[in-house]
Amino acid sequence: MDIGGLFGLEGKNVVVTGAGSGMGRAASRLLAELGANVYATVRRHPLDFPVKREIPSELGTREGLDALVAELPPVIDALFVCHGISNSVGMTNGLEVQLTNFLSFRYLTEALLPRMSEGSSVTFISSNGGWEWRERAAACMELIETAGWDEALAWYASHPELTNDGYVFAKQCQNVYVYAKVHDPAFVSRHVRINAIAPGLTKTGLTDDFNRSLTGDAAFGQSVLEDMYLSTWNGRWATPEEMGYPMVVLGSRLCSYVSGQVLYIDWGSAAEWELETILSA
Ligand SMILES: NC(=O)c1ccc[n+]([C@@H]2O[C@H](COP(=O)([O-])OP(=O)(O)OC[C@H]3O[C@@H](n4cnc5c(N)ncnc54)[C@H](OP(=O)(O)O)[C@@H]3O)[C@@H](O)[C@H]2O)c1
Repeated sequence: MDIGGLFGLEGKNVVVTGAGSGMGRAASRLLAELGANVYATVRRHPLDFPVKREIPSELGTREGLDALVAELPPVIDALFVCHGISNSVGMTNGLEVQLTNFLSFRYLTEALLPRMSEGSSVTFISSNGGWEWRERAAACMELIETAGWDEALAWYASHPELTNDGYVFAKQCQNVYVYAKVHDPAFVSRHVRINAIAPGLTKTGLTDDFNRSLTGDAAFGQSVLEDMYLSTWNGRWATPEEMGYPMVVLGSRLCSYVSGQVLYIDWGSAAEWELETILSA
């Protein structure tokens, strides 16, 4: 059996954002090895392996996203949206986090949807930090249902608490978007699947930013995060490949009947939190 062929990605046009480092880089590398035509966006980190096209991109602005959309091919078989930033220390960048970590995901997906082929896939990188999405589902839906970039900006302006919540709200919006769009005619009319992975703590280009985002002290931040997320289960940090590889599987033909899923890749942390929440209700 041709194991690589099972992915169904050879000669297919795939787009990966945030491909220069971390999980996006791991996914791009595997996609290139599987023979896909990889259109990879990079910003500060150039790629160190060959792809079909490496496209320098700024994805936190509408202008940057429009420029990227103009560079991409007319038919796309898989879209992997991997870019992201963390909250800054003291959180002055709530809106920047929302635009980078959610609104750009929606914008890019909807701009490229008309080019997605029959049976193609959209896969986001969310986070297990977004697991309490149920508590914010109504607010997420309001934002998801705004028409276009400017209406979304107005929504953020009228919801400062959620905007300033930064990372967690953006990831909750990603999760709700996956659930909301799975049967949307714009997706199912051509059987475009939509899923997300929701990673736990992973050593990547973002690790120092995450560690610093609590107080500015990276060593202290790391110990707090490890206490919160790893100590209860004798856990370890994941590698970028432990996220990027399952993401490729999810976006490939191997998962051709999987849609509307947020796949937590966190060694069961979110599952444990969910059980505790249900039992304590
Ligand atoms: N690491 C974790 O523990 C963890 C856990 C859960 C979820 N996640 C999520 O995983 C995803 C991938 O992040 P990662 O951990 O692999 O970190 P990473 O190595 O920093 O990768 C993120 C990539 O996104 C790019 N990027 C960020 N903002 C951008 C912008 N405005 N325009 C263009 N490119 C931009 C970065 O480009 P440059 O650095 O080159 O500028 C970088 O290559 C993110 O969505 C993150 O929220 C991470």
